[in-house]
Amino acid sequence: MSIYGRSRVKVPASTANLGPGFDTLGMALSLYAWIEMEEAAETVFHLYGDEMAGLPRDKSNLLYKVAQMVFAEAGVQVPELSIAMYSEIPLTRGLGSSASAIIGALAAANAMIGSPLSQAKLFDMATAIEKHPDNVGASLFGGIITAVWDGEHADYIRIEPPQELEFLVVIPEFELETVKAREALPAEVTLGDAVHNISRTSLLTAALAAGRLDLIGTAMQDRLHQPYRAPLVPGMEKLLAEAPGHGALGIALSGAGPTLLCMVDRKEARKQELELFLTETMQENGISARTVWLSPCTTGVTVELLERNGMQNESFLDMIKGELQS
Ligand code: HSE
Repeated sequence: MSIYGRSRVKVPASTANLGPGFDTLGMALSLYAWIEMEEAAETVFHLYGDEMAGLPRDKSNLLYKVAQMVFAEAGVQVPELSIAMYSEIPLTRGLGSSASAIIGALAAANAMIGSPLSQAKLFDMATAIEKHPDNVGASLFGGIITAVWDGEHADYIRIEPPQELEFLVVIPEFELETVKAREALPAEVTLGDAVHNISRTSLLTAALAAGRLDLIGTAMQDRLHQPYRAPLVPGMEKLLAEAPGHGALGIALSGAGPTLLCMVDRKEARKQELELFLTETMQENGISARTVWLSPCTTGVTVELLERNGMQNESFLDMIKGELQS
């Protein structure tokens, strides 16, 4: 009989950079993954949903490896785990699916053993794995975060997203590996481009904190990564240049792409026009893509401790069905 509990976590997707804030700004979005974890006689995975197909179901699985990092840090041994996961976050599209998995596994493993590690410790561990704090910070804390990472420790401030904002993402069917999108970036940039981004990132952070939607378009401009990534996402240049003319307050590549994210005023009258513009521009470039309206997730990861029941699959799936219907 295990002395540890069974944990269930719900963890949001995220968008990173918000345009100029490369590796700095992140925001949690209303798309989710759910994970349950408990000690077992032997390691077993129950991975549900299209996004889980093809992921490893042995101890090389990221969830398992991340959980073991928590146990090692806490000085406990839980070598065999039962792990269930369902995710509605598309993989490799710039919506932070790997960051959600990392945060979900850290939070689930920590809760299972009585939460010996602080949120700040989990943030440092997640950033060390992901190498940048923007997606993991958003999934952990929710809302908008601005964060810095010194190689060992991450500091952040969380900003409550303005209530007037919603987000339209256009998600291309093709996948783009973050590593490939990072390889496209130059090793050095000019002082002019650095100043351009520092000023826009500062303005965007302040505008979001102050609810100044009128400044979002000016502030969401980038010269550090989007120009170099544009050739990897056909249609991106036109979308960045013209979406504001169709009702977007601002538009940016979501993380490393290929998804693009528009910030939109909830009261905007041209929402349908904007959706059509995004999908038609992708189509003109030979790319199938779908649009999804999202809200900010303000809670970040949420954690529950449950009765141990030997991980009955029905109860996990029933919970997911209930969540997806609500
Ligand atoms: N800040 C990261 C990037 C997010 O743009 O490469 C993707 O993981």
